[in-house]
Amino acid sequence: MNKNTLPTNRKTSEILWLLGFACLFFSCEKAEENALAQEKRSRVQDYIRPIPGEDEEIAEDQIKLGEVLIAYSDCYDCHTRENRAKGPSFQDISKRYPIRQVYIDLLARKVISGGTGSWGYPIMNPHPNVTFEDAQTMVTFILSLKHQKN
Ligand code: HEC
Repeated sequence: MNKNTLPTNRKTSEILWLLGFACLFFSCEKAEENALAQEKRSRVQDYIRPIPGEDEEIAEDQIKLGEVLIAYSDCYDCHTRENRAKGPSFQDISKRYPIRQVYIDLLARKVISGGTGSWGYPIMNPHPNVTFEDAQTMVTFILSLKHQKN
């Protein structure tokens, strides 16, 4: 037997073992990452609880008007577009409800009467001075945000 063969073989097998462990380690890490991402996704789904349904077309001027009406009201005291504050973010609200007249009316009524329980425990104050039509327009703007990228 050649004198040099044994040490070289040992070295090769050590390297192979090391490679094997590295692969195992990285694949475990990847699986863990996937599991975490999955868990995060399902937590977000549990919070948003999207209602299935097709979106209807909405007029661009309604969206613009809604944005202005919201800016002149107190909505941004508790809401932001992207982040949860005292109230849910407008984007999260838009991801729950299909853009359909029934949901626009439902939410407009909720803006006027206030309420709690749909997004946890904080309370939305009532807005008795907002007309039903203005509330509908505000909600139209909110729901239009689902088409915007984060
Ligand atoms: C005092 C804080 C506060 C103000 C001011 C406020 N909101 Fe809210 N809003 C909330 C909270 C809290 C919720 C979640 C209520 C719930 O879980 O039922 C909410 C929920 C909503 C929802 C979703 C309701 C549902 O049932 O899914 C809409 C739409 C909404 N707000 C629109 C508005 C608009 C438009 C205004 C301004 C006219 C406004 N909010 C002003 C706190 C507020």
